[in-house]
Amino acid sequence: MKIGIDLLCFHTPSYVMDLRILAEKRGVDPDKFTIGIGQERMAVLPPDQDIVTLAANAALPVVEKAGRDGIELLIFATESGIDQSKAAALFCHKLLNLPATCRCIEVKEACYGGTAALRLAATMVAARPHTKALVLAADVARYDLASPGEPTQGAGAVAMLVSTKPRILALDPETGFHAEDVMDFWRPNYREEALVDGKYSTRMYLTTLIQAWKQYTAASGRGLADHAHYCFHLPFTKIAYKAYSRLCKAEGTAEPPKEELLHLLDMALGYNRQTGNTYAACVYESLSALLDNMPEALDDKRIGLFSYGSGCMAEFFSGVVQRGYRAHLFTDLHRTMLDTRTPVTYRQYEDIFTYGIPKDGADHVFAPYRGGAFRLAGIKAHKRRYEATA
Ligand code: HMG
Repeated sequence: MKIGIDLLCFHTPSYVMDLRILAEKRGVDPDKFTIGIGQERMAVLPPDQDIVTLAANAALPVVEKAGRDGIELLIFATESGIDQSKAAALFCHKLLNLPATCRCIEVKEACYGGTAALRLAATMVAARPHTKALVLAADVARYDLASPGEPTQGAGAVAMLVSTKPRILALDPETGFHAEDVMDFWRPNYREEALVDGKYSTRMYLTTLIQAWKQYTAASGRGLADHAHYCFHLPFTKIAYKAYSRLCKAEGTAEPPKEELLHLLDMALGYNRQTGNTYAACVYESLSALLDNMPEALDDKRIGLFSYGSGCMAEFFSGVVQRGYRAHLFTDLHRTMLDTRTPVTYRQYEDIFTYGIPKDGADHVFAPYRGGAFRLAGIKAHKRRYEATA
C-alpha cells in the first residue's frame, strides 16, 4: 500500500524585505547575505497574520480541491505557538470547516515538527486506509534585531494532505533518524525571539545529517546516486551545498562538477531564498519549489529529504514522485503569491517587528493588511478572533 503526500500547498505573507536593505542598515556587505548564506529576501508578517492564518491560508486550496470528507486527523506543527494549552489545529479546523470527526492536535520539535507530523499522519492513514490526514506546518522565525540570525528570519506555512492514494509523493518506508539533547537553538516561553549558537547549530545540523544518512542507507541499501534531487531543511539556502558536500564525503565520492551540483540542488532552494526560514515548513516549501519549477518532468523520480530540528532531531527519508503529479500542483498560486508581495522599507520592517501582540485582555481590533483568505481580526478578553477576508 502506498502512503504519501496527496496535495501540497505553500503560503507566505504578502510583505517582504530585500536583504540588501538590511545589509545596508547593518553595515554589512550584501554579498554576505545573498552569496555567503544564500538568502535574497525575508517574509515580513503583518500584525493581522499569525501561524493560524498562515496555515489556514495554505490549507484552503487543498481542502477545496480534495474535499473535506474522510479527514480524520489534523496535526499542526509549529514552534511559534500562540497558546500553551489549545492546539492551533482547532482554530484551523473551524476556519476550514472540517468534519467534527477529526482529531486535532499540535506538535513541537523545532523545525523537525513538520516531519514528525507527516510521519504520525502516515502511520494513522496506514492503520485506517480509507481516511486522510491533514498536516499543517507554520512558523514565524524571529531573532533579535541586529543579531547574526536576523537575515535568516522568515515566515510561512505548508499544508499536506496525506492519503493512501498520493498524487504527489509516495513516501518510502525506510528512514534514518537521530536524537540528541543539545542547546544549539531554543526559545524559552518568556521570549518572543529565539536564542541560538549559530555556528554550533550548523555543526549539529551537518553532524546529525550523517548519523541519519548512515541509518537510512543501511535500511534502504540506497546511495547518493539513487536520488534524482535533494530537499534539505533550509535555515538558509547555502546550507544545502554544505550538506550535500558532507554526504559526498560520507560516501567517499567526489563532489560533482558545479553545473551538475546546481541541477541537483538549486531548483529546490528558490522559494526559501525568497521567504527566509519557515522552520517546520522549510523542507516541504523546498519540495514545493522543486516540483513547481523543475523544467524536466520528475515522474517516478526518487527525492531525498532531510529534516533537522534544533534541540535536536534529524531524519533522512525519501519519496517517489508520482506519475502525473504536475496536474495536482499549486504552481501558479505559489508563483503569483511570491511575485505580488509588497516590499517594505527598513522602517516598516522594524515597526512591524516591534509591534507587540496586546496582552492586556482589552478589546483590540487589527487594521486589515494584504494577506490570504483568513486574517486575525482582533483579540478580546485574551481570545483571538479570526475572520475570512472575502
Ligand atoms: P554569521 O556569523 O553572521 O556569518 O552567522 P559568518 O561570518 O559565518 O558568514 C556566513 C557565510 O558568509 C560564511 O560562509 C562567510 O565566509 C560568508 P561559510 O564559511 O559558512 O561558507 N561571507 C561572505 N560571502 C560572500 N561575500 C561576503 C561575505 N562575508 C561573509 N562579503 C549564521 C551565520 C548562519 C550562523 C547565522 O545567520 C545564524 O546564527 N543563523 C541562525 C541559526 C541557523 O540558521 N542555524 C542553522 C542550523 S540550525 C537549524 O537549521 C535549525 C533552525 O532552523 C531552528 C529550528 O530547528 O527550529 C535554525
